[in-house]
Amino acid sequence: MATQATLPPGPKGLPFIGNLLPFRNDPLHFMTAVQQRYGDLVSVRLLHHNVICGFRPEHVRYCLMEHPRSFHSIQSQGGNLRNLLGEGLLTSEGDFHRQQRRLVQPAFHRQRIEQYADTMVNYTLETLEGWQAGCEVDMTSQMQQLTLRIILKTMFNIESREQAVTLGRAFNTVIGQAPRRLPGVRGPLARLIGNTTKEQMARFEAGRAQLDAFVYTLIQQRHTDEQDQGDILSMLMATHEGDESLSDRQIRDQVMTLIAAGHETAQNSLCWTLYLLAQYPGVHEKLLAELRTVLHGRAPTTKDLAQLPYLEWVMNESWRVYPPAWRVGRQAIEPIELDGYHFPAGTIVLLHQWVTHKIPEIWGDPENFRPERWDPTQNQKVPQGAYFPFGGGPRICIGMPFAQMEVRLVLATLLQHYNPRLAPNQQIVPLPRVTLRPRYGMRMILQPVS
Ligand code: HEM
Repeated sequence: MATQATLPPGPKGLPFIGNLLPFRNDPLHFMTAVQQRYGDLVSVRLLHHNVICGFRPEHVRYCLMEHPRSFHSIQSQGGNLRNLLGEGLLTSEGDFHRQQRRLVQPAFHRQRIEQYADTMVNYTLETLEGWQAGCEVDMTSQMQQLTLRIILKTMFNIESREQAVTLGRAFNTVIGQAPRRLPGVRGPLARLIGNTTKEQMARFEAGRAQLDAFVYTLIQQRHTDEQDQGDILSMLMATHEGDESLSDRQIRDQVMTLIAAGHETAQNSLCWTLYLLAQYPGVHEKLLAELRTVLHGRAPTTKDLAQLPYLEWVMNESWRVYPPAWRVGRQAIEPIELDGYHFPAGTIVLLHQWVTHKIPEIWGDPENFRPERWDPTQNQKVPQGAYFPFGGGPRICIGMPFAQMEVRLVLATLLQHYNPRLAPNQQIVPLPRVTLRPRYGMRMILQPVS
């Protein structure tokens, strides 16, 4: 393919800083506008860097599926996530990453995951026991507690509610206070751009120390017990790479990654889905009818999921409209050819679920929350790479089957008891941080299901 020496089109922005302000302050709106104005492959200048944004399915396929070894994840290149997660699965590269992935994979095999179903349903029922008809709850914290408890129990055999509360607070501090970083920008300039005060940094460090203390205590307890608890922690501790077992630091990084990646995304999925159902009563009614017909008021099991196709379409559609992972970033480690452009090693390419999931030429009516578009009999063709809530290729979300089962079981349980409506006088706005969160939380009134 012929290569062009120039960069793809894109907004010039201001002298020196380029597009820094809109990119940092409102990336969802900025990226949508950039795609509409400049097309599907865009160059965005941030200070002296040019970041390439690829919005087409073929760009997603190129980076994630066809040439994954030409790239590193930007998550592994430093920054807060790397700072928190060390060399866990999400933030490591190359042979080490592949080795770790093989190690963790058995915990996510389908038969293994099916054993987690009871915990998912029972913890949801326990959450509902604490609710009262007509009351208002902060759904974000309710769903955080629930998803944290599920991950702690299924992966690490921890049952304490109190620990889930403490950990939830520490995660909120770390994620809430984390300085916002720009891809490829390091050092003092990164701190300046991140707008981080000393106090924020101190809170971030304190939150991280609290999380570290929790995980290291857990590891120490297991060293003392020496009992195989049959969970992923026992598996990690029994692992030997050659003659060496994993260090506490390596175990800590994997544990922290699984707790962080395993609850935050699922929590946000559940909140956004409840929000969408409250906005679309017709969809909610249809879903409820399916739940009634199949479950007759009883708690769901994994076997029921195959009989609940509408529930699956609701989730697929929710992940299209509000993808919890709203952007994936890669840095080329060798020269690449993309759409006829030649980019040198070091180029950063951003792929945007938020934008690609809403391109009208692919989706027709992207602004509508319409689960029926996932009905296979409707023949909507979704090209590979057009829909990637869980990423793709060798780094595809390892927790995908876990999450797909968890959110459906939680919803099927919850919606048979309550019909959460949005409480008045609040703004629901997505906040794109590590994941897509509701910026001001989500207060909901618990209307009982008649
Ligand atoms: C709806 C829920 C979830 C969404 C939308 C989601 C999304 C993603 C995405 C997009 C990636 C790829 C990132 C990249 O390519 O740079 C990823 C990776 C990952 N996810 Fe998830 N995730 C979810 C749930 C989970 C759960 C429940 C777990 C664990 C229990 C988990 C653990 C991981 C890990 C460890 C990775 C790194 C995989 C690797 O690099 O090899 N995720 N996730």
